[in-house]
Amino acid sequence: MSRETLHPVPEAYAEQSLLNEADYFELYRRSIDDSEGFWREQGRRLDWIKPYTQVKDVSFAKDDLHIRWYADGTLNVSSNCLDRHLVEHGDSTAILWVGDEPGISREISYRELHADVCRLANGLKSLGVRKGDVVTIYMPMIPEAAVAMLACARIGAVHSVVFAGFSPEALAGRMDDGKSRIAITANAGKRGGKSVVLKENVDRAVALCRETSVDKVVVVNYTDDEVPWNPARDCDYGELVAQQNDDCEAEEMSAEDPLFILYTSGSTGKPKGVLHTSGGYLTYASLTHEYVFDYRRGERYWCAADIGWVTGHSYIIYGPLANGATTVMYEGVPNYPDVTRVAQIIDEHKIEILYIAPTAIRALMAEGDRPTAGASLESLRLLGTVGEPINPEAWNWYHRSFGRGHCPIVDTWWQTETGGAMLTPLPGATALKPGSATRPFFGVRPALVDNGGNILEGAAEGNLVLLDSWPGQMRTVFGDHQRFIDTYFSTFEGMYFTGDGARRDADGYYWITGRVDDVLNVSGHRMGTAELESALVAHEAVAEAAVVGFPHEIKGQGIYIYVTLNSDREPSEEMRRALRDWLRSEIGPIATPDVIQWAPGLPKTRSGKIMRRILRKIAADECDQLGDISTLADPSVVQQLIDGRVALA
Ligand code: WTA
Repeated sequence: MSRETLHPVPEAYAEQSLLNEADYFELYRRSIDDSEGFWREQGRRLDWIKPYTQVKDVSFAKDDLHIRWYADGTLNVSSNCLDRHLVEHGDSTAILWVGDEPGISREISYRELHADVCRLANGLKSLGVRKGDVVTIYMPMIPEAAVAMLACARIGAVHSVVFAGFSPEALAGRMDDGKSRIAITANAGKRGGKSVVLKENVDRAVALCRETSVDKVVVVNYTDDEVPWNPARDCDYGELVAQQNDDCEAEEMSAEDPLFILYTSGSTGKPKGVLHTSGGYLTYASLTHEYVFDYRRGERYWCAADIGWVTGHSYIIYGPLANGATTVMYEGVPNYPDVTRVAQIIDEHKIEILYIAPTAIRALMAEGDRPTAGASLESLRLLGTVGEPINPEAWNWYHRSFGRGHCPIVDTWWQTETGGAMLTPLPGATALKPGSATRPFFGVRPALVDNGGNILEGAAEGNLVLLDSWPGQMRTVFGDHQRFIDTYFSTFEGMYFTGDGARRDADGYYWITGRVDDVLNVSGHRMGTAELESALVAHEAVAEAAVVGFPHEIKGQGIYIYVTLNSDREPSEEMRRALRDWLRSEIGPIATPDVIQWAPGLPKTRSGKIMRRILRKIAADECDQLGDISTLADPSVVQQLIDGRVALA
């Protein structure tokens, strides 16, 4: 990478930020050399009921895997996000909610949020919810979603937020896996001027559940939409909380008690329930939120994610609220009613920090100057990105348009599994290179290894692993600890394997090259090809299917599907539509394929393994780079697929 693209730390930052470059290196070195001491100190940013004496108890060895942080301490996460701010900052805004339609917003103070959370916490208790119970949250981006998460945390229930764009089938799978007996939802949501069906999806999901019986559904009657009502099971949120006391004693939780489960896709099998615990997770979310965004109390900070993803958990709810921040919660989409919406929200609410996915940036970039035309954007001082690699062109556009050439961009690399940012610039400390997530956060020990697990030194490219634990690390796959060990600790002995590839340049900067496993990243949403394939073959017309990603200008990766139909079926446009609808209903609209190609056969080795490398090349229109195909059982299918692709184009 050439030096010309280096963006030094702006002077205004070097002087005023929490840390400068020298501080970063010093603190980073300490965090590694004296990991125990560093984290002992950092844990004190939280209020503990019973202070911890133990800090770190970790082994990544696969026969003795254990990850425990602050294990003998007790605390409550919701108290840390609410109660402790009340005395001095009770009236400052905790949540600045911005509605789907322009002109609609609401500010909720810490005091009000505390009362709302307590009322719902008491309401949930009155419905019989107890410590350790799994509560499914399937909600639009309204304040009640945040209230629901924190109310669970308050009483020690484990929330499992399911993205409201998932289908009833996908929702049922997650409720079954979590053995969840209660769901919190809304009658409907609003997004981009459209109504989003929620309660009816929950009804259908409840009917589909096989492993659990859902006996309570709490419904926020948010829109005017009428929905079917089952008086024995459904419970009106407004009525439930109206009768409740606005104080609820917070449950004393062990640091290692579960806080939430969040499902995410892997390269095999169905989605995994990533389990995060209380003390370490909140320490890490809070610490990273403060340093990555160089956050000062009183600033308006906007993370434009959805609470259905980990970014929404750590950086809309837990990190900012633990820090007493004002967190913006936006109900809508970046381009409704038009592409100036993001800039308008920033100007209207004088937002200082914007954190958004590259896919949204690319979609806006496609509109040229229009998204920021006429906007002042003067309040903005820092930009961030998350969820997928950002191409330098989009980085530069973001920097020029929203950043007016002077706001730094923190490109944060992390995962549902990591709980918080792992590779990231710090605004006052890190010179930037467009497209690079730069350096490790405190306490993070990244390394690159070759396929044999040998650690590569200096400038190199390889598989990205983490050599030591950090407090925000996931602790297990819910209900399947062996899968946790197999997925993350078995590929490379004694290391956590991220599933990502990366390059490290001569300056020690990391550049994520993308997943090295069979996981797609479509508009920043993770999707397992295996999950899509198993949904496809469940369709009665499909004999076989293979799914790969291909470069897509806006989404980062698009979904490319090869389908072999049963012999009594004929390819047709109608069939294409049917399969597209099928995936939408089995998984959700985010699984809508971009391309469906009919495949008379799939390229397989003699042992029957599909050679995805070849399918990826064909999908990327790089048919001249297929490499060695002589090991295929029937090399002639390759030409058929190439011809089929030409016919598609
Ligand atoms: C990818 C989202 C490049 C990566 C927080 C990772 C990124 C997966 C970046 C996790 C980034 C996330 N640059 N790639 N800044 N951030 N990724 O679990 O492939 O939804 O493994 O967590 O997104 O996605 P997840």
